[in-house]
Amino acid sequence: MINLDYLSFTGDYITKSEIEKYDSKIEQILNTIQKKQSMLDWFDIDTTVSEQEIEQIKNIAKEIRENDAYLVVVGAGGSFLGAKAVIETFSPYFGNNLSKVLFAGYDLSSEYLSELLSFLSDKNFYINVISKSGNTMETSIAFKFLLQLLKEKYPNDYKNKVIATTDKQNGKLRKISQEEGFRTMIIPSEIGGRYSVLTPVGLFPIAVAGVDIDKLLEGAKAGKQSIHSAMEYAVARDILYNKGFFVESFTNYEKRAEGIALWRQQLFAETQGKNKSGILPICNANTTNLHSVGQYYQDGPDILFESVLKIDKLKDLKFKNNDNFSLFELNNIVLKQVALAHLQGNTPSIILTIPELNEFNIGEFIYYNFISAAVGAYLQQVNPFDQPGVEAYKNLVKQNASYLLEQIDLD
Ligand code: PA5
Repeated sequence: MINLDYLSFTGDYITKSEIEKYDSKIEQILNTIQKKQSMLDWFDIDTTVSEQEIEQIKNIAKEIRENDAYLVVVGAGGSFLGAKAVIETFSPYFGNNLSKVLFAGYDLSSEYLSELLSFLSDKNFYINVISKSGNTMETSIAFKFLLQLLKEKYPNDYKNKVIATTDKQNGKLRKISQEEGFRTMIIPSEIGGRYSVLTPVGLFPIAVAGVDIDKLLEGAKAGKQSIHSAMEYAVARDILYNKGFFVESFTNYEKRAEGIALWRQQLFAETQGKNKSGILPICNANTTNLHSVGQYYQDGPDILFESVLKIDKLKDLKFKNNDNFSLFELNNIVLKQVALAHLQGNTPSIILTIPELNEFNIGEFIYYNFISAAVGAYLQQVNPFDQPGVEAYKNLVKQNASYLLEQIDLD
């Protein structure tokens, strides 16, 4: 169960009675969500992914793991951030058991892609290309390069090493997959990229990394019990925003969960940053950044609030000859004292607590964030599920790089 605390470290900026004033608005929003109008198919986890799909995911994941192969996930934005976040949460920091799931197709770094291609040249690998539209520039380009290498390495067997996750019917990736005979998985048409981590988009790479997807889904299903808390979190954020706190810092005290913050950043920013309104989400890793942006949090302009992720149980570390020192306990004390100090500097904090880092709790937390983000957008009276703001730069790129884009036959 996720615990929400928006009163302990927000001073007078949030009161219980202000929260209660939102009650009727929240009821209306819940009704809208429950009716599952457009793009709300993520709401019922029971129906977002079928048993057959789960079986397919597990079978192909098993095949890749048994072959001891790498899986290169090629996708951008909502098509990769969720899987990356979950995999990082459950991967060891060091050693031989590092995940064999790699990511590409989310930027245009020629350095990264060249090094990835040479790294893979003597490795056994599969590609999971993920794109709902089928025409995302970064994804299409990386896929072309990786497919070229795959074809060179496995001229007779490359088809079997590509899994395309895309729309059921539409888009160029669906077309290419049909022509080539790639294995495919479906991104449900009524679920947008940033709400898709619990569909084959996220579940497949997560399963390849050896994370228990059944537990993840179980947790997400249980997330329905926390709907009211998730909505209250959205309300608390809205209250702070309306008091001039325009920036929300997703603050972490555990490195392992930094990917989760990046995933949340994309979810909230693309859901709420529109129509000249919305909170700007940023990510903050502590205690590292107490020696960096912490200065700004304490002493900069009063535009910032924090949503701090607290994890109640993590591996502790004690000295062999001194049982009285606990590193985990110290980290928690710092978390609390920083929240108090920041409040004195007019940076309030909301604390979200997860009991421990396991698949069930992360599934629940994912669902919790879906609800909070969507409700936040409804409170702001913007559409949670579009992203009109990403078109402007694309048009300029099309105009100015047409001579390059023509070479690779993008839509
Ligand atoms: O959340 C979103 O909808 C976006 O971030 C998309 O996931 C991202 O732009 C990638 O789109 P596509 O899956 O069509 O390649």
